[in-house]
Amino acid sequence: MSDGTLPAPRGDLAGFAPYRTQQMDAEVRLQSNEWAEPNPAARHLREEDLERVLLNRYPKAATELLAALAERYGVGPEQIVLGNGSNEVLLYSFLLFGGHGRRTLLFQPTYSMHARLTQTAGGTVAEERIGLPYAVTRERALGAVERHRPEIVVICSPNNPTGTLVDEDVILAVARAAPRSLVVVDEAYADFAGVSVVPRIAERPNLVVVRTFSKARAAAGLRLGLLIAHPTVAAMYRAVQLPYNVSALTAAVAARVARDEAEVPRRVRQCAVEREKVSAALARVPAVETFDSVTNFVLFRIRSGAVDDAHARFLREGVLVRDVSSWPGCAGCLRVSIGTPRENDRFVAALDSVFGRVKA
Ligand SMILES: Cc1ncc(COP(=O)(O)O)c(C=O)c1O
Repeated sequence: MSDGTLPAPRGDLAGFAPYRTQQMDAEVRLQSNEWAEPNPAARHLREEDLERVLLNRYPKAATELLAALAERYGVGPEQIVLGNGSNEVLLYSFLLFGGHGRRTLLFQPTYSMHARLTQTAGGTVAEERIGLPYAVTRERALGAVERHRPEIVVICSPNNPTGTLVDEDVILAVARAAPRSLVVVDEAYADFAGVSVVPRIAERPNLVVVRTFSKARAAAGLRLGLLIAHPTVAAMYRAVQLPYNVSALTAAVAARVARDEAEVPRRVRQCAVEREKVSAALARVPAVETFDSVTNFVLFRIRSGAVDDAHARFLREGVLVRDVSSWPGCAGCLRVSIGTPRENDRFVAALDSVFGRVKA
């Protein structure tokens, strides 16, 4: 019989709550920045391809996938570290370069997992509060590096939840100012913006870039992310990486998705048109302040009135958006992902009933 005694977790994780993405039921789901059009696995793997995926064996090196990615990013395959979603390669960054007594500098508001994973790895978060509009200037960035002397700096560009880019000059200035620190550039949404700092890794070996298949590649369910680094830094990651962290099935599908080159620019074009429609509709709502975005989501702030009330009203109209009002500097803010054209029309149509009743 148990006496009710439980094992004790590390003290700094004792109060940790699970990561939540507000997965309520709704017809129109615009809360997770996924690509909304269906992307079935059967589009990529046929029966004969599946015959070659042998589940009894541990996966072989993902040579085909690495070759496709190396070509796409103009790097060597040895510079790529694969992960079970980009969250996994982010976690490796904090385990390797962070941990007890080490600091991660974040420019808030930003993707909340960067802080959570820092803490999971035992490290300490140092925050520079940028707020809205989100402008990470060279002065702010270098000042924060000087003050906090972090072992890791994370720059999310384009940034979630603001939808805005951080200038390459700022990123490089940080990498130059702190050559012994790891500068992680989270480019989860970079396909939508059409810019990347990957070509700068050659000159700044402390720069690593994180990409994902979850957004413009329409494969969030596949769980494939990657990190691109200087070959020596990539080898450091490989030394701590879990063996066989990407399944044979994932690697087989991902190799095809990675070669699906025409689809990404098509989605990016469609997203730009739809984002314009959604942003323009939000801009017509006096009760709302809308922030410009280069991504597949738009951040907006309710000028006055309760944000949870607005969120609930959207839900009553069948539309689920993300309440990000508890993120640092985001009081009053909601974030809407760009969905299919019909879903975006539903969001636009809901604006009247949501804000007609929220006091401006
Ligand atoms: C900035 C950013 N990085 C990483 C991720 C995680 O993506 P993945 O599905 O590759 O783990 C997300 C997901 O929303 C994100 O917004």
